[in-house]
Amino acid sequence: MLSRRTFSAALAASPFVALSQQSSLHARIKIDTERVIGDIDPKIYGNFIEHLGRCIEGGVFDEKSPLSDSNGFRRDVFDAVKNLNVTQLRWPGGNFSSNYNWKDGIGARDQRPPRLEMAWGTVESNRFGTHEFLQYAEMMKTEPYICTNLGTGSWVDAQQWVEYCNSLQDTAMTRLRKQNGRQDPWKVTYWGLGNEMDGPWQMGHRTAEDYGKFALEAAKLMKFTDPSVKLVAAGSSNFGTGIDWIGWNRTVLEYLKNHADYLAIHMYVGNRDNDFGDFLASSVGLDERIKTTEGVINQALSGEPRSKRIYIAWDEWNVWYRARGPQQRGRRILEEHYNLEDALVVATFLNSFVNHAHIVKMANMAQLVNVIAPIFTNEKGLFLQTIYYPLQLFANNSKGKALELFVDSPKYPNKRFDEVRYVDASAAYDNGVVVLNVVNRHRDQAIETELEVEDKQFAGPVDISEVNGPDIKSENNFDSTTVKTTSRSARADGRKLRYSFPPHSFTMLKAKVG
Ligand code: AHR
Repeated sequence: MLSRRTFSAALAASPFVALSQQSSLHARIKIDTERVIGDIDPKIYGNFIEHLGRCIEGGVFDEKSPLSDSNGFRRDVFDAVKNLNVTQLRWPGGNFSSNYNWKDGIGARDQRPPRLEMAWGTVESNRFGTHEFLQYAEMMKTEPYICTNLGTGSWVDAQQWVEYCNSLQDTAMTRLRKQNGRQDPWKVTYWGLGNEMDGPWQMGHRTAEDYGKFALEAAKLMKFTDPSVKLVAAGSSNFGTGIDWIGWNRTVLEYLKNHADYLAIHMYVGNRDNDFGDFLASSVGLDERIKTTEGVINQALSGEPRSKRIYIAWDEWNVWYRARGPQQRGRRILEEHYNLEDALVVATFLNSFVNHAHIVKMANMAQLVNVIAPIFTNEKGLFLQTIYYPLQLFANNSKGKALELFVDSPKYPNKRFDEVRYVDASAAYDNGVVVLNVVNRHRDQAIETELEVEDKQFAGPVDISEVNGPDIKSENNFDSTTVKTTSRSARADGRKLRYSFPPHSFTMLKAKVG
Protein backbone atom coordinates (compact mmCIF):
# COMPACT_ATOMS: atom_id res chain seq x y z
CA MET A 1 0.00 0.00 0.00
CA LEU A 2 1.28 3.49 -0.74
CA SER A 3 2.17 5.12 2.52
CA ARG A 4 0.57 8.36 3.58
CA ARG A 5 3.87 10.03 2.80
CA THR A 6 3.97 8.65 -0.69
CA PHE A 7 0.38 9.73 -1.21
CA SER A 8 1.16 13.29 -0.05
CA ALA A 9 4.15 13.36 -2.32
CA ALA A 10 1.92 12.43 -5.25
CA LEU A 11 -0.41 15.23 -4.35
CA ALA A 12 2.40 17.75 -4.06
CA ALA A 13 3.73 16.60 -7.42
CA SER A 14 0.60 17.90 -9.11
CA PRO A 15 1.63 21.34 -10.35
CA PHE A 16 -1.86 22.72 -10.01
CA VAL A 17 -2.67 22.03 -6.37
CA ALA A 18 -1.28 23.96 -3.46
CA LEU A 19 -0.99 21.79 -0.37
CA SER A 20 -3.33 24.19 1.44
CA GLN A 21 -6.07 22.97 -0.91
CA GLN A 22 -6.03 19.52 0.64
CA SER A 23 -9.56 19.08 1.75
CA SER A 24 -11.82 16.93 3.77
CA LEU A 25 -13.67 15.55 0.75
CA HIS A 26 -13.32 11.80 0.62
CA ALA A 27 -14.34 9.10 -1.82
CA ARG A 28 -13.92 5.37 -2.26
CA ILE A 29 -13.55 3.36 -5.45
CA LYS A 30 -13.60 -0.44 -5.46
CA ILE A 31 -12.22 -2.35 -8.42
CA ASP A 32 -12.93 -5.99 -9.17
CA THR A 33 -11.36 -7.41 -12.32
CA GLU A 34 -14.09 -10.06 -12.54
CA ARG A 35 -16.93 -7.54 -12.69
CA VAL A 36 -16.79 -7.06 -16.44
CA ILE A 37 -19.21 -4.77 -18.29
CA GLY A 38 -18.00 -5.83 -21.72
CA ASP A 39 -15.13 -5.65 -24.16
CA ILE A 40 -14.09 -2.11 -24.93
CA ASP A 41 -14.39 -1.76 -28.68
CA PRO A 42 -11.37 0.22 -29.93
CA LYS A 43 -13.76 1.99 -32.31
CA ILE A 44 -15.07 4.12 -29.40
CA TYR A 45 -11.91 6.18 -29.94
CA GLY A 46 -12.83 7.08 -33.49
CA ASN A 47 -12.89 10.49 -35.12
CA PHE A 48 -14.50 12.26 -38.03
CA ILE A 49 -13.48 14.46 -40.98
CA GLU A 50 -16.04 16.41 -42.97
CA HIS A 51 -15.83 18.69 -45.97
CA LEU A 52 -16.56 21.58 -43.67
CA GLY A 53 -14.57 24.75 -43.02
CA ARG A 54 -10.86 23.95 -42.71
CA CYS A 55 -11.22 20.38 -41.51
CA ILE A 56 -10.14 18.71 -44.74
CA GLU A 57 -9.01 21.57 -46.98
CA GLY A 58 -6.48 23.53 -44.91
CA GLY A 59 -6.40 20.89 -42.19
CA VAL A 60 -5.83 17.28 -43.14
CA PHE A 61 -5.17 18.15 -46.78
CA ASP A 62 -3.40 21.21 -48.12
CA GLU A 63 -1.87 20.70 -51.54
CA LYS A 64 -0.23 24.16 -51.58
CA SER A 65 1.40 23.94 -48.17
CA PRO A 66 5.16 23.34 -47.84
CA LEU A 67 4.19 21.31 -44.76
CA SER A 68 2.38 18.74 -46.91
CA ASP A 69 3.68 15.56 -48.49
CA SER A 70 3.43 14.75 -52.19
CA ASN A 71 -0.17 13.54 -51.73
CA GLY A 72 -1.20 16.87 -50.23
CA PHE A 73 -1.51 15.53 -46.66
CA ARG A 74 -0.22 17.90 -44.00
CA ARG A 75 2.66 16.04 -42.35
CA ASP A 76 2.42 17.80 -39.00
CA VAL A 77 -1.31 17.08 -38.84
CA PHE A 78 -0.68 13.47 -39.78
CA ASP A 79 1.78 13.07 -36.89
CA ALA A 80 -0.61 14.65 -34.40
CA VAL A 81 -3.42 12.37 -35.62
CA LYS A 82 -1.16 9.35 -35.39
CA ASN A 83 -0.29 10.19 -31.77
CA LEU A 84 -3.97 10.44 -31.00
CA ASN A 85 -4.36 6.81 -32.07
CA VAL A 86 -7.52 7.43 -34.07
CA THR A 87 -9.04 3.96 -34.31
CA GLN A 88 -11.72 4.75 -36.89
CA LEU A 89 -12.30 7.70 -39.22
CA ARG A 90 -15.72 8.78 -40.46
CA TRP A 91 -16.03 10.72 -43.74
CA PRO A 92 -17.28 12.73 -45.76
CA GLY A 93 -19.93 14.20 -43.42
CA GLY A 94 -21.98 15.18 -41.54
CA ASN A 95 -24.43 17.44 -43.25
CA PHE A 96 -22.10 17.57 -46.24
CA SER A 97 -22.76 13.94 -47.06
CA SER A 98 -26.45 14.58 -47.74
CA ASN A 99 -25.76 16.17 -51.12
CA TYR A 100 -22.44 14.50 -51.94
CA ASN A 101 -22.04 12.73 -55.25
CA TRP A 102 -19.07 10.45 -54.65
CA LYS A 103 -18.46 10.14 -58.39
CA ASP A 104 -17.43 13.82 -58.41
CA GLY A 105 -14.50 12.91 -56.19
CA ILE A 106 -12.77 10.24 -58.28
CA GLY A 107 -10.53 10.37 -61.35
CA ALA A 108 -7.88 12.93 -62.28
CA ARG A 109 -7.93 15.65 -59.63
CA ASP A 110 -7.74 18.51 -62.08
CA GLN A 111 -10.77 17.26 -63.95
CA ARG A 112 -13.07 16.88 -60.98
CA PRO A 113 -16.04 19.25 -61.00
CA PRO A 114 -16.34 22.01 -58.43
CA ARG A 115 -19.85 21.94 -56.93
CA LEU A 116 -21.93 24.30 -54.90
CA GLU A 117 -21.80 23.07 -51.30
CA MET A 118 -25.09 23.91 -49.71
CA ALA A 119 -24.71 22.49 -46.21
CA TRP A 120 -21.98 24.96 -45.22
CA GLY A 121 -22.10 27.54 -48.00
CA THR A 122 -18.90 27.00 -49.97
CA VAL A 123 -17.76 25.50 -53.24
CA GLU A 124 -16.50 21.92 -52.96
CA SER A 125 -13.44 21.35 -55.13
CA ASN A 126 -13.72 17.56 -54.91
CA ARG A 127 -9.92 17.31 -54.88
CA PHE A 128 -10.14 15.14 -51.78
CA GLY A 129 -12.36 12.17 -52.59
CA THR A 130 -12.68 8.42 -52.06
CA HIS A 131 -9.11 7.55 -53.08
CA GLU A 132 -7.59 10.31 -50.96
CA PHE A 133 -9.68 9.38 -47.93
CA LEU A 134 -8.94 5.69 -48.14
CA GLN A 135 -5.26 6.31 -48.76
CA TYR A 136 -5.18 8.53 -45.68
CA ALA A 137 -6.91 5.83 -43.61
CA GLU A 138 -4.44 3.21 -44.86
CA MET A 139 -1.46 5.41 -44.04
CA MET A 140 -2.95 6.13 -40.63
CA LYS A 141 -3.82 2.45 -40.08
CA THR A 142 -7.28 3.52 -39.03
CA GLU A 143 -10.59 1.84 -39.89
CA PRO A 144 -12.46 3.85 -42.55
CA TYR A 145 -16.16 4.56 -42.11
CA ILE A 146 -18.05 6.10 -45.05
CA CYS A 147 -21.35 7.89 -44.64
CA THR A 148 -23.51 7.60 -47.76
CA ASN A 149 -25.82 10.25 -49.15
CA LEU A 150 -29.38 9.26 -48.29
CA GLY A 151 -30.51 12.87 -48.55
CA THR A 152 -30.41 13.77 -52.25
CA GLY A 153 -28.68 10.53 -53.25
CA SER A 154 -30.21 7.34 -54.59
CA TRP A 155 -30.09 3.68 -53.59
CA VAL A 156 -27.94 2.98 -56.62
CA ASP A 157 -25.43 5.70 -55.67
CA ALA A 158 -24.97 4.07 -52.28
CA GLN A 159 -24.82 0.57 -53.73
CA GLN A 160 -22.29 1.51 -56.42
CA TRP A 161 -20.06 3.20 -53.88
CA VAL A 162 -19.83 -0.11 -52.00
CA GLU A 163 -19.21 -1.91 -55.29
CA TYR A 164 -16.49 0.56 -56.30
CA CYS A 165 -14.70 0.21 -52.96
CA ASN A 166 -15.22 -3.45 -52.14
CA SER A 167 -16.08 -5.66 -55.09
CA LEU A 168 -13.78 -8.32 -56.52
CA GLN A 169 -16.01 -8.84 -59.58
CA ASP A 170 -15.15 -7.46 -62.98
CA THR A 171 -17.76 -4.74 -63.41
CA ALA A 172 -18.00 -1.23 -64.79
CA MET A 173 -17.54 0.10 -61.24
CA THR A 174 -14.46 -1.98 -60.45
CA ARG A 175 -12.95 -1.21 -63.87
CA LEU A 176 -13.40 2.46 -63.07
CA ARG A 177 -11.65 1.98 -59.72
CA LYS A 178 -8.73 0.27 -61.45
CA GLN A 179 -8.61 2.91 -64.13
CA ASN A 180 -8.34 5.46 -61.31
CA GLY A 181 -5.28 3.70 -59.96
CA ARG A 182 -6.55 1.25 -57.39
CA GLN A 183 -6.27 -2.40 -58.31
CA ASP A 184 -7.40 -4.16 -55.13
CA PRO A 185 -10.61 -3.36 -53.34
CA TRP A 186 -10.21 -1.48 -50.07
CA LYS A 187 -12.81 -3.62 -48.31
CA VAL A 188 -14.47 -0.82 -46.36
CA THR A 189 -16.51 -2.47 -43.60
CA TYR A 190 -18.39 0.43 -42.00
CA TRP A 191 -21.02 2.37 -43.96
CA GLY A 192 -23.48 4.96 -42.71
CA LEU A 193 -27.05 5.04 -43.98
CA GLY A 194 -27.19 8.83 -44.21
CA ASN A 195 -26.58 11.52 -41.64
CA GLU A 196 -28.96 13.14 -39.13
CA MET A 197 -31.98 12.41 -41.28
CA ASP A 198 -34.22 13.44 -38.36
CA GLY A 199 -33.02 17.06 -38.60
CA PRO A 200 -35.07 19.59 -40.56
CA TRP A 201 -31.73 21.24 -41.45
CA GLN A 202 -30.66 18.13 -43.34
CA MET A 203 -30.82 18.12 -47.14
CA GLY A 204 -33.32 15.40 -47.93
CA HIS A 205 -34.73 15.32 -44.36
CA ARG A 206 -37.52 12.76 -44.04
CA THR A 207 -39.99 11.53 -41.49
CA ALA A 208 -38.92 8.44 -39.54
CA GLU A 209 -41.26 6.29 -41.66
CA ASP A 210 -39.96 7.66 -44.94
CA TYR A 211 -36.34 7.40 -43.85
CA GLY A 212 -36.84 3.87 -42.52
CA LYS A 213 -38.33 2.68 -45.83
CA PHE A 214 -35.75 4.46 -47.96
CA ALA A 215 -32.75 3.37 -45.89
CA LEU A 216 -33.98 -0.23 -45.87
CA GLU A 217 -33.81 -0.44 -49.66
CA ALA A 218 -30.35 1.12 -49.69
CA ALA A 219 -29.24 -1.30 -46.96
CA LYS A 220 -30.50 -4.30 -48.93
CA LEU A 221 -28.60 -3.31 -52.05
CA MET A 222 -25.45 -2.54 -50.07
CA LYS A 223 -25.53 -5.92 -48.33
CA PHE A 224 -26.35 -7.74 -51.58
CA THR A 225 -23.21 -6.13 -53.00
CA ASP A 226 -21.04 -7.06 -50.03
CA PRO A 227 -22.62 -9.09 -47.21
CA SER A 228 -19.67 -8.34 -44.94
CA VAL A 229 -20.41 -4.61 -44.65
CA LYS A 230 -21.65 -3.26 -41.32
CA LEU A 231 -24.35 -0.64 -41.60
CA VAL A 232 -25.04 2.31 -39.33
CA ALA A 233 -28.62 3.62 -39.29
CA ALA A 234 -29.22 7.32 -38.69
CA GLY A 235 -30.75 7.54 -35.23
CA SER A 236 -31.53 10.68 -33.26
CA SER A 237 -29.63 13.92 -33.41
CA ASN A 238 -32.51 16.24 -32.68
CA PHE A 239 -33.38 16.36 -28.98
CA GLY A 240 -35.18 19.72 -28.85
CA THR A 241 -38.24 20.33 -26.70
CA GLY A 242 -41.23 18.43 -27.97
CA ILE A 243 -39.12 16.29 -30.29
CA ASP A 244 -39.95 12.59 -30.12
CA TRP A 245 -36.37 11.40 -30.43
CA ILE A 246 -37.16 8.04 -28.87
CA GLY A 247 -39.99 7.51 -31.36
CA TRP A 248 -37.62 8.25 -34.25
CA ASN A 249 -35.27 5.50 -33.09
CA ARG A 250 -38.12 3.06 -32.52
CA THR A 251 -39.57 3.56 -36.00
CA VAL A 252 -36.22 3.46 -37.75
CA LEU A 253 -35.31 0.23 -35.97
CA GLU A 254 -38.61 -1.36 -36.92
CA TYR A 255 -37.61 -0.97 -40.56
CA LEU A 256 -33.90 -1.58 -40.23
CA LYS A 257 -33.50 -4.07 -37.41
CA ASN A 258 -32.58 -6.90 -39.75
CA HIS A 259 -30.12 -4.86 -41.76
CA ALA A 260 -28.53 -2.31 -39.45
CA ASP A 261 -25.65 -3.26 -37.18
CA TYR A 262 -25.46 0.07 -35.36
CA LEU A 263 -27.80 2.91 -34.51
CA ALA A 264 -26.07 6.30 -34.68
CA ILE A 265 -26.91 9.00 -32.19
CA HIS A 266 -25.29 12.41 -31.86
CA MET A 267 -24.70 14.71 -28.93
CA TYR A 268 -23.07 18.12 -28.59
CA VAL A 269 -22.98 19.99 -25.30
CA GLY A 270 -21.94 23.44 -24.12
CA ASN A 271 -21.61 25.78 -21.17
CA ARG A 272 -23.95 28.52 -22.31
CA ASP A 273 -24.85 29.57 -18.74
CA ASN A 274 -21.24 29.56 -17.62
CA ASP A 275 -22.09 27.09 -14.86
CA PHE A 276 -19.14 24.74 -14.31
CA GLY A 277 -21.02 22.18 -12.21
CA ASP A 278 -23.92 22.02 -14.61
CA PHE A 279 -21.62 21.71 -17.63
CA LEU A 280 -19.54 18.98 -16.01
CA ALA A 281 -22.76 17.05 -15.40
CA SER A 282 -23.44 16.80 -19.16
CA SER A 283 -22.32 13.17 -19.27
CA VAL A 284 -25.16 12.24 -16.92
CA GLY A 285 -27.46 13.22 -19.80
CA LEU A 286 -25.35 11.10 -22.13
CA ASP A 287 -25.71 8.11 -19.77
CA GLU A 288 -29.47 8.58 -19.77
CA ARG A 289 -29.64 8.66 -23.56
CA ILE A 290 -27.55 5.50 -23.77
CA LYS A 291 -29.86 3.67 -21.35
CA THR A 292 -32.99 4.84 -23.16
CA THR A 293 -31.59 3.92 -26.57
CA GLU A 294 -30.47 0.52 -25.32
CA GLY A 295 -34.05 -0.08 -24.17
CA VAL A 296 -35.41 0.84 -27.60
CA ILE A 297 -32.88 -1.49 -29.25
CA ASN A 298 -33.85 -4.30 -26.87
CA GLN A 299 -37.50 -3.71 -27.67
CA ALA A 300 -36.84 -3.86 -31.41
CA LEU A 301 -34.83 -7.07 -31.05
CA SER A 302 -37.16 -8.89 -28.69
CA GLY A 303 -38.34 -11.99 -30.50
CA GLU A 304 -35.43 -11.82 -32.96
CA PRO A 305 -32.71 -14.52 -32.97
CA ARG A 306 -30.36 -13.98 -30.06
CA SER A 307 -27.38 -13.73 -32.36
CA LYS A 308 -28.80 -10.50 -33.78
CA ARG A 309 -27.16 -7.47 -32.17
CA ILE A 310 -27.47 -3.77 -32.79
CA TYR A 311 -25.03 -1.47 -31.03
CA ILE A 312 -24.96 2.24 -30.36
CA ALA A 313 -22.61 4.39 -32.46
CA TRP A 314 -22.06 7.89 -31.05
CA ASP A 315 -20.74 8.86 -34.42
CA GLU A 316 -20.72 12.57 -33.58
CA TRP A 317 -20.06 13.91 -30.11
CA ASN A 318 -18.17 16.82 -28.57
CA VAL A 319 -18.40 20.17 -26.87
CA TRP A 320 -19.76 22.65 -29.39
CA TYR A 321 -21.60 25.86 -28.56
CA ARG A 322 -19.48 28.94 -29.22
CA ALA A 323 -18.86 28.71 -32.97
CA ARG A 324 -22.40 27.71 -33.72
CA GLY A 325 -25.45 29.21 -35.42
CA PRO A 326 -26.74 30.38 -38.78
CA GLN A 327 -23.79 32.75 -39.34
CA GLN A 328 -21.46 29.73 -39.50
CA ARG A 329 -21.25 29.54 -43.27
CA GLY A 330 -18.13 29.73 -45.39
CA ARG A 331 -14.55 28.65 -44.84
CA ARG A 332 -13.42 29.65 -41.31
CA ILE A 333 -16.29 28.15 -39.42
CA LEU A 334 -16.94 26.00 -36.35
CA GLU A 335 -13.46 26.93 -35.11
CA GLU A 336 -14.18 26.30 -31.47
CA HIS A 337 -11.34 27.19 -29.08
CA TYR A 338 -11.33 24.79 -26.14
CA ASN A 339 -10.46 25.27 -22.48
CA LEU A 340 -9.83 22.99 -19.51
CA GLU A 341 -13.48 22.52 -18.56
CA ASP A 342 -14.21 21.33 -22.12
CA ALA A 343 -11.40 18.77 -21.81
CA LEU A 344 -12.93 17.50 -18.56
CA VAL A 345 -16.33 17.10 -20.20
CA VAL A 346 -14.64 15.14 -22.99
CA ALA A 347 -13.07 12.86 -20.36
CA THR A 348 -16.48 12.29 -18.73
CA PHE A 349 -17.97 11.35 -22.13
CA LEU A 350 -15.18 8.84 -22.64
CA ASN A 351 -15.85 7.47 -19.15
CA SER A 352 -19.46 7.02 -20.15
CA PHE A 353 -18.56 5.13 -23.35
CA VAL A 354 -16.31 2.80 -21.34
CA ASN A 355 -18.98 2.35 -18.67
CA HIS A 356 -21.41 1.26 -21.39
CA ALA A 357 -18.90 -0.85 -23.29
CA HIS A 358 -21.43 -3.66 -23.76
CA ILE A 359 -23.66 -1.50 -25.98
CA VAL A 360 -21.57 1.48 -27.15
CA LYS A 361 -19.28 -0.04 -29.75
CA MET A 362 -18.42 2.97 -31.83
CA ALA A 363 -17.90 6.68 -31.14
CA ASN A 364 -16.46 9.40 -33.32
CA MET A 365 -15.41 12.69 -31.83
CA ALA A 366 -16.55 15.43 -34.18
CA GLN A 367 -14.25 16.50 -35.65
CA LEU A 368 -10.49 15.99 -36.13
CA VAL A 369 -8.88 19.21 -37.32
CA ASN A 370 -9.86 22.91 -36.98
CA VAL A 371 -13.61 22.27 -36.97
CA ILE A 372 -14.67 21.61 -33.35
CA ALA A 373 -11.43 19.71 -33.14
CA PRO A 374 -8.52 18.62 -30.95
CA ILE A 375 -5.96 19.78 -33.56
CA PHE A 376 -5.79 23.37 -34.75
CA THR A 377 -3.67 24.59 -37.65
CA ASN A 378 -2.54 27.71 -39.40
CA GLU A 379 -0.30 27.91 -42.45
CA LYS A 380 2.83 27.70 -40.25
CA GLY A 381 1.98 24.84 -37.93
CA LEU A 382 -0.48 23.58 -35.37
CA PHE A 383 -1.30 23.41 -31.70
CA LEU A 384 -3.06 20.76 -29.67
CA GLN A 385 -6.26 21.89 -28.06
CA THR A 386 -7.10 20.96 -24.47
CA ILE A 387 -9.50 18.22 -25.59
CA TYR A 388 -6.69 16.41 -27.39
CA TYR A 389 -5.14 15.20 -24.15
CA PRO A 390 -7.92 13.13 -22.52
CA LEU A 391 -8.77 11.55 -25.88
CA GLN A 392 -5.13 10.66 -26.44
CA LEU A 393 -4.83 9.06 -22.99
CA PHE A 394 -7.99 7.01 -23.41
CA ALA A 395 -7.27 5.88 -26.95
CA ASN A 396 -3.76 4.76 -26.13
CA ASN A 397 -4.43 3.11 -22.76
CA SER A 398 -8.03 2.40 -21.86
CA LYS A 399 -8.56 -0.93 -23.59
CA GLY A 400 -9.49 -4.53 -22.91
CA LYS A 401 -12.42 -5.22 -20.57
CA ALA A 402 -14.49 -2.42 -19.07
CA LEU A 403 -14.96 -2.93 -15.33
CA GLU A 404 -18.00 -2.09 -13.26
CA LEU A 405 -16.78 0.10 -10.40
CA PHE A 406 -18.20 0.79 -6.99
CA VAL A 407 -17.88 4.56 -6.52
CA ASP A 408 -18.81 6.25 -3.28
CA SER A 409 -18.34 9.96 -3.85
CA PRO A 410 -19.60 13.22 -2.38
CA LYS A 411 -22.26 14.77 -4.60
CA TYR A 412 -23.45 18.21 -5.59
CA PRO A 413 -26.94 19.47 -6.38
CA ASN A 414 -27.52 20.23 -9.99
CA LYS A 415 -30.13 22.03 -12.10
CA ARG A 416 -30.82 19.16 -14.46
CA PHE A 417 -30.07 16.05 -12.48
CA ASP A 418 -30.83 15.57 -8.80
CA GLU A 419 -27.35 15.01 -7.51
CA VAL A 420 -24.14 14.51 -9.40
CA ARG A 421 -21.04 12.72 -8.12
CA TYR A 422 -17.89 14.81 -7.93
CA VAL A 423 -15.92 11.71 -8.81
CA ASP A 424 -16.66 10.40 -12.29
CA ALA A 425 -14.79 7.20 -13.07
CA SER A 426 -14.33 4.28 -15.42
CA ALA A 427 -11.86 1.43 -15.54
CA ALA A 428 -10.33 -0.94 -18.06
CA TYR A 429 -8.50 -4.19 -17.42
CA ASP A 430 -6.09 -5.72 -19.86
CA ASN A 431 -3.26 -8.14 -19.40
CA GLY A 432 -2.72 -7.65 -15.66
CA VAL A 433 -3.02 -3.88 -15.86
CA VAL A 434 -5.89 -1.82 -14.48
CA VAL A 435 -6.45 1.61 -16.02
CA LEU A 436 -8.54 3.86 -13.82
CA ASN A 437 -9.93 7.05 -15.38
CA VAL A 438 -11.09 9.68 -12.90
CA VAL A 439 -12.50 13.16 -13.39
CA ASN A 440 -12.74 15.30 -10.29
CA ARG A 441 -15.71 17.55 -11.04
CA HIS A 442 -14.99 19.77 -8.04
CA ARG A 443 -13.83 23.19 -9.06
CA ASP A 444 -11.84 24.00 -5.91
CA GLN A 445 -11.23 20.94 -3.82
CA ALA A 446 -9.14 17.84 -4.12
CA ILE A 447 -10.84 14.56 -3.33
CA GLU A 448 -8.91 12.14 -1.21
CA THR A 449 -9.82 8.70 -2.48
CA GLU A 450 -9.27 5.21 -1.23
CA LEU A 451 -8.83 2.81 -4.15
CA GLU A 452 -9.30 -0.82 -3.36
CA VAL A 453 -8.79 -3.86 -5.59
CA GLU A 454 -11.18 -6.59 -4.49
CA ASP A 455 -9.78 -9.69 -6.14
CA LYS A 456 -6.11 -8.87 -6.67
CA GLN A 457 -3.28 -6.76 -5.27
CA PHE A 458 -1.45 -3.76 -6.60
CA ALA A 459 1.80 -5.15 -7.86
CA GLY A 460 4.32 -2.34 -8.12
CA PRO A 461 4.40 0.34 -10.79
CA VAL A 462 1.64 2.91 -11.12
CA ASP A 463 1.80 5.40 -14.00
CA ILE A 464 -0.04 8.60 -13.20
CA SER A 465 -1.14 10.93 -16.00
CA GLU A 466 -3.01 14.10 -15.22
CA VAL A 467 -4.73 16.58 -17.52
CA ASN A 468 -5.11 19.86 -15.70
CA GLY A 469 -4.31 23.54 -15.85
CA PRO A 470 -4.15 26.62 -13.66
CA ASP A 471 -7.80 27.50 -14.22
CA ILE A 472 -10.94 25.91 -15.65
CA LYS A 473 -10.90 28.52 -18.41
CA SER A 474 -7.24 27.91 -19.35
CA GLU A 475 -6.70 27.37 -23.06
CA ASN A 476 -3.87 26.41 -25.37
CA ASN A 477 -2.79 28.39 -28.40
CA PHE A 478 0.03 28.57 -30.95
CA ASP A 479 2.39 30.12 -28.38
CA SER A 480 1.69 28.12 -25.25
CA THR A 481 0.33 24.80 -24.08
CA THR A 482 -1.19 25.52 -20.70
CA VAL A 483 -3.45 22.49 -20.48
CA LYS A 484 -1.74 19.21 -21.17
CA THR A 485 -0.86 15.83 -19.72
CA THR A 486 1.73 15.67 -16.97
CA SER A 487 3.03 12.24 -16.02
CA ARG A 488 4.81 10.72 -13.06
CA SER A 489 5.28 7.28 -11.57
CA ALA A 490 4.67 5.75 -8.18
CA ARG A 491 4.61 2.27 -6.67
CA ALA A 492 1.83 0.49 -4.86
CA ASP A 493 1.52 -2.87 -3.14
CA GLY A 494 -1.32 -4.51 -1.31
CA ARG A 495 -5.02 -4.11 -1.91
CA LYS A 496 -5.39 -0.42 -1.13
CA LEU A 497 -4.01 2.77 -2.49
CA ARG A 498 -4.82 6.30 -1.44
CA TYR A 499 -4.79 9.03 -4.01
CA SER A 500 -5.87 12.65 -3.98
CA PHE A 501 -7.50 13.76 -7.19
CA PRO A 502 -6.79 17.47 -7.66
CA PRO A 503 -9.60 19.94 -8.32
CA HIS A 504 -10.81 20.25 -11.93
CA SER A 505 -8.66 17.42 -13.18
CA PHE A 506 -8.68 14.26 -15.23
CA THR A 507 -6.33 11.59 -13.91
CA MET A 508 -5.47 8.23 -15.40
CA LEU A 509 -3.84 5.71 -13.06
CA LYS A 510 -2.33 2.73 -14.80
CA ALA A 511 -1.47 0.09 -12.26
CA LYS A 512 -0.10 -3.41 -12.48
CA VAL A 513 -2.17 -5.86 -10.47
CA GLY A 514 -1.59 -9.53 -9.74
O1 AHR B 1 -20.09 18.13 -36.89
C1 AHR B 1 -20.74 19.28 -37.37
C2 AHR B 1 -22.13 19.00 -37.87
O2 AHR B 1 -22.93 18.68 -36.78
C3 AHR B 1 -22.30 17.83 -38.80
O3 AHR B 1 -22.09 18.17 -40.13
C4 AHR B 1 -23.73 17.44 -38.60
O4 AHR B 1 -23.95 16.07 -38.80
C5 AHR B 1 -24.02 17.87 -37.18
O5 AHR B 1 -25.18 18.59 -37.08
